[in-house]
Amino acid sequence: MDKFYLTTAIDYVNGAPHIGHAYEKILTDIIARHYSQRCDNVFFLTGTDEHGIKIQKTAAEKGITPKELCDENAQKFKDAWKALDIDYNRFIRTTDEDHVKTVQKIFKKLVENGDIYKHSYQGLYCSGCECFLNEKDLTEDGLCPDHLKKPELVTEENYFFRLTKYKDAIIKHIKENPDFIIPEFRANEVLNQLEDIQDISVSRAKSNVQWGIDVLDDDEQSIYVWIDALSNYITAIGYDTENPSEQYKKLWPANVQVIGKDILKFHSIYWPAILMALDLPLPKHILAHGWITIDQSKMSKSIGNVIAPTDVLKNFNLEYPDAFRYYMATSAPCGRDGNYSDDDFKEKVNAHLANSMGNLLNRTLSMLVKYFDGEVKSEFKVNNEILKIAKNKIDIVKNHFDNFEIAEAGQEITNLVDITNKYVTDNAPWTLAKEEKMTECGQILTTVLEVMCIVSALIYPYCPNIAKDMAKQLSFDLSIKLDDLTADNIKTGKLISKEEIHPVFLRLDSELADKSSKK
Ligand code: ME8
Ligand code: MG
Repeated sequence: MDKFYLTTAIDYVNGAPHIGHAYEKILTDIIARHYSQRCDNVFFLTGTDEHGIKIQKTAAEKGITPKELCDENAQKFKDAWKALDIDYNRFIRTTDEDHVKTVQKIFKKLVENGDIYKHSYQGLYCSGCECFLNEKDLTEDGLCPDHLKKPELVTEENYFFRLTKYKDAIIKHIKENPDFIIPEFRANEVLNQLEDIQDISVSRAKSNVQWGIDVLDDDEQSIYVWIDALSNYITAIGYDTENPSEQYKKLWPANVQVIGKDILKFHSIYWPAILMALDLPLPKHILAHGWITIDQSKMSKSIGNVIAPTDVLKNFNLEYPDAFRYYMATSAPCGRDGNYSDDDFKEKVNAHLANSMGNLLNRTLSMLVKYFDGEVKSEFKVNNEILKIAKNKIDIVKNHFDNFEIAEAGQEITNLVDITNKYVTDNAPWTLAKEEKMTECGQILTTVLEVMCIVSALIYPYCPNIAKDMAKQLSFDLSIKLDDLTADNIKTGKLISKEEIHPVFLRLDSELADKSSKK
């Protein structure tokens, strides 16, 4: 693997980030960190989607300019991702100058190639979706099913993109590449949508939408926000219609583009068509995750039931975002909806991170200090059976990541911890010490510490701070690539002293959690 390029959806900046946005960025960050343990050249792109009627309207309601609204809210997204340790390589804003210029060139090229033409049009526009809806897609009351708002009747002369020209090629691509859309069960949905696609409007009259990228050589039209937004995946890495950068040539096509299931149509139909029209290769995978729900209903700005990720960290007094990252990524298989509740969060991270994983490391190191003054002796040979299970887990986890099964990979790590805990209970090193079978006792402890090195490497993408703390107490170098992970990371000699041992994760206080759910 010589490079790994991955992207998230870029968020609308008509509000502040909520834990649904956070979920997607956490998933992508976990994938990025995992592949950084397998390859030196990982590039992770995220950012904000800043144009369009929705932003224009929100700014007008607040009595500020769209740019002011964007600046204010883009910063909130950046701050939230910092608090969650989202380690992206570029944060693109669609108001960035390099992006704007390239989008104009892309549009121009599509006009020149005959893929874009002018046409007058009447349709029902939902500003929540930023797209025209078909009458048959509306609820019985004529509302957008996602935003529960009445779409607006728009009559305009617009530019149109010949989506229909690419219909057959996209169908063929989806059928020939069953892992193009992940999870696979969503591919049928897309194939059905493809059956009755039409050419799409790709500009808006500036009399209606001023906040957008201008069409070059046409004073009256601005570029449709989805054409602008989708292009970010290539403009951010230096695509150009004439002179694409070295970075672009190295990174494109993306290995995986992570998005929510509500915007799959744009990514598996519109986006491939644009790429085909530009004669560019398609991304390898589109990963459509499910929704984060609250009391089983979708959390969204339009519904108004949002939770800010930084509030979760604050309410639980969390110094690091690790527990929240772990919970979000493992709460539901990618592609399925996952429900968030404070109680479930607390229960799960207390069980997995504090009681099982953290406690296992803590008591093993404590026994090493108690019985051996923190020293690993050369006669402490490790149990190969347990180490074999642990090494095998590395392959299982890698395999899950290759299928973007992030929750399942997390469960395998928890399972490895459970197996190791059972190994300790079954072999009772404290009894062996009492019976003065010191070498046997030391062998069990050393075996557990070896496994914990592997656990720290595997949990790193989910819980980078906890993993670093574990590795530090084990004197283990976490920067090692997964394929180089051997089973002798624990060096003979003094490993740790009593003062250096501390819990890597403290149980979430139940009173604290109760307070937070009442807020
Ligand atoms: O759709 N649970 O922006 P957006 C999980 N700008 N994911 C959620 C979610 C929830 N409750 N709510 C939103 C847009 N998301 C466009 C994208 S990409 C070229 C342009 C996800 O702010 C949503 O599915 O409405 C999407 O992937 C991302 O957050 C941004 O949503
Ligand atoms: Mg949305």
